Amino acid sequence: MPDTGAASWIVAVCSQKGGVGKSTLTMALAAAVADSAGRALVVDVDPQATTVEEAEKLTDPGFDVTHELDPAKLAQLSRLRRYDLILVDTPGSLEGQEVLEQVVDNAHFAVVPFVNEPPSRTPTQRTAALIAEAGLPYAAVVNRIDPRSGGDAVLKARRELEERGVPYFRSFVRSYTGYPDSLDAGKTVYQWRARYGANMREDISRVNAELQRALGRIGSGVA
Ligand SMILES: Nc1ncnc2c1ncn2[C@@H]1O[C@H](COP(=O)(O)OP(=O)(O)O)[C@@H](O)[C@H]1O
Ligand SMILES: [Mg+2]
Repeated sequence: MPDTGAASWIVAVCSQKGGVGKSTLTMALAAAVADSAGRALVVDVDPQATTVEEAEKLTDPGFDVTHELDPAKLAQLSRLRRYDLILVDTPGSLEGQEVLEQVVDNAHFAVVPFVNEPPSRTPTQRTAALIAEAGLPYAAVVNRIDPRSGGDAVLKARRELEERGVPYFRSFVRSYTGYPDSLDAGKTVYQWRARYGANMREDISRVNAELQRALGRIGSGVA
């Protein structure tokens, strides 16, 4: 783990399962930091550079985005002191294992988006093991909860994570079409004023608050 005295916190957003919301949550969290006048940088380490491509469609996201494939350069991230939060969006395949390991080695914390569907449980557990092995503190974030499901879906997702010994944030993210739609409209979720936009911001703000608290604990040495 890099020096916690550095001004830039580095948070890796990872899961070896594709489509669980890594890129979505990365951009939404960067937007949350920007919304409260913070400086956020999104680093896309996916060879396909999908996040950079998507972020370039945003009119005025309020955060910076860069593409970085060289693991040696990732190590230098910890020396970047301009940002309040650096979010590293990682690829969701085993091909990206080496890059993922490099990112994990150079981060202060990892967020693992989790969708409670059978195909994503084993990859989540595998990702968690890789992060734990590197000694990095991390938490799963339950994503894509049906807003109509009441509390049941959240409880079920938590139970699956508990059975696998994966720590998780209490805050979770509900499923809204506003995530892809806001991107299409060139806006971040914090700039999105359409239906359910407030719900989306509420979810992401809660995740961000929990993340900031986790980083605060690391900074004060009580994590
Ligand atoms: N909470 C959510 N509600 C609705 N759609 C979501 C949510 N999270 C992710 N998605 C959608 O799921 C798809 C995959 O998300 P993405 O962030 O690209 O996953 P990953 O980066 O893990 O492959 C995208 O179309 C995205 O818009
Ligand atoms: Mg992605």
